[in-house]
Amino acid sequence: LRVAVLFGGQSAEHDVSILSARNVVKAIDAAKYEVIPILIDRAGQWLLIELLDGALPASVAYVGTKVCLLPGGCGRLVAVEGSAGSRELPAIDILFPVLHGLHGEDGSVQGLAQIAGVPLVGCGILGSAIAIDKDVAKRLLREAGLPVARSIAVRPGEHPVFDEVAKALGSPLFVKPARQGSSVGVSKARTESEFHDALGESFRFDTKVLVEEFVQAREIECAVLENPDGTIVVSVPGEIVTGEGHGFYTYEAKYIDEKGATINIPALLPELTARQLQDMARQAFIALGCEGLARVDFFLRPDMTVVVNEINTMPGFTDISMYPKAMAATGTSYPELIDRLIEHGLA
Ligand code: DAL
Ligand code: MG
Repeated sequence: LRVAVLFGGQSAEHDVSILSARNVVKAIDAAKYEVIPILIDRAGQWLLIELLDGALPASVAYVGTKVCLLPGGCGRLVAVEGSAGSRELPAIDILFPVLHGLHGEDGSVQGLAQIAGVPLVGCGILGSAIAIDKDVAKRLLREAGLPVARSIAVRPGEHPVFDEVAKALGSPLFVKPARQGSSVGVSKARTESEFHDALGESFRFDTKVLVEEFVQAREIECAVLENPDGTIVVSVPGEIVTGEGHGFYTYEAKYIDEKGATINIPALLPELTARQLQDMARQAFIALGCEGLARVDFFLRPDMTVVVNEINTMPGFTDISMYPKAMAATGTSYPELIDRLIEHGLA
């Protein structure tokens, strides 16, 4: 079977996606599947690239055959005029969008797969589109009885006053683009001027911004995997401990600073709390209409109360990422995990 691994993409998480895809490609069983690596450049062009000894090269070059998926073509890829003529390439059997953020994790590629008539790994249109929008996701989580941090959504042209928002939500405030990942565009604000700058920074990345109460808490995450038969496995909770000097789990703490964060799996928790978090992860997965996989992120306060922070429908698969590590600690190795995800998509 031919698995098209889509990676790169147009979002601010382009580089993170490449790191994720390298590990996913490595973990795909070469005896069972042929990997068709498709690099999406920042302009959105699909480039069919070459693997190097079966792996993604250490530094990917933006060179390849420009391709697109044929609508209603049952996975047929065609080379775009000008690169190799408009010749037809062998059909792919499944699309694995190892894409983070907008135009990848938000339902758009999922819709494209549906139009093209090709199966897909992971969440479909609805689950992806809901989970990417932290504002909409929180409303559905709340409706499902799950606790979330208090927040307000801000639209372009609106200028909430720091003192008024802080009166309702406390200080500092967290300001984040509604539809971004990897903490891109996220900052903390303690004053009117910081708040002004934080809103400006977030609006660089989205037309909707979330102003949220700051939750002083431990960061705990659970990996969720749906088997081909629909049964759901939730991993043991893992903990992210952000390193000194990073005010929170920022992009730099995640991917740039090697000492930016430590991951502890399983998180040191009372058994009852661990089970409660696993239960909530399962409920959140269902409440948002997720399929295949998701990582559910929590804040755990010192008094052991919990809020669901967010749900990622294509969580990172990088060397430092929680999802595959938490699954491995729960008994599903990296290759087995990838195999099950593909099987789920094909089912
Ligand atoms: N958005 C990043 C990739 C994550 O949640 O892991
Ligand atoms: Mg995220």
